[in-house]
Amino acid sequence: MPFPPIRLGVNIDHVATVRNARGGLLPDPVRAAHAAIEAGADGITAHLREDRRHIRDADMERLRAEIARPLNFEMAATEEMLGIALKIRPHACCLVPEKREERTTEGGLDVVAGSSHLREFAAQLRHAGIRVSLFIAPEPAQIAMARQVGADIVELHTGTWCELVAAHDAAADAEYERLINGAAAAASAGLEVHAGHGLDFRTAEKLAHCHTFVEFNIGHYLVGEAIFVGLGEAVRQMKAAMIRGRKFR
Ligand code: PXP
Repeated sequence: MPFPPIRLGVNIDHVATVRNARGGLLPDPVRAAHAAIEAGADGITAHLREDRRHIRDADMERLRAEIARPLNFEMAATEEMLGIALKIRPHACCLVPEKREERTTEGGLDVVAGSSHLREFAAQLRHAGIRVSLFIAPEPAQIAMARQVGADIVELHTGTWCELVAAHDAAADAEYERLINGAAAAASAGLEVHAGHGLDFRTAEKLAHCHTFVEFNIGHYLVGEAIFVGLGEAVRQMKAAMIRGRKFR
């Protein structure tokens, strides 16, 4: 029986991090997006943060204009970002929590606490034809509320699991189960299920065993591997790992 496909969204934020470390225009994150697509990426993800520490407004505009695959615009649910998203009209918006002092997105969105704001926010994006994804921890209450506020997709936060795996912590198995159970709950609520944060070749291969996940969004590890093998090769190896995982029985 053929296995269900799995998409790889390549997050290019940290190409922009390297560019911004020096100032100027290089390396160009849009060139990275083209290279990732050429190597088999199914989409491109970029996070426009409030402090513009990596991706900038002009990068988003160029990505939207130049790339031929779906653009997943990661952002906080603020009025400023809503205005930019409605202007750029990406394929999807992934709403994430954002704290200025954090180094990366540290936790999932609290959809339960923010339900009335998120319901209205999601409605405006959907009205513009933009798919709405919520980045959440694999918690039953968050998943149920994601559906109620009108999301199309949930992206389950894999950061905790990946950290436990890297630390060889025995609690990793329980966190993996939480992800699998969360994916099942989300799919049965009618949500498309994605995953992301901290994934590497090994964790992406293992999570791909679960056919409920249809997309992984991966950035930091791929940009790190690109230093050694080139971005195209890193993307090819990641897709191969995901497909190996998919075929596992
Ligand atoms: N998905 C979301 C919602 C994120 O915030 C991030 C980090 O920007 C990622 C995926 C990618 O995580 P990583 O860079 O660790 O692969």
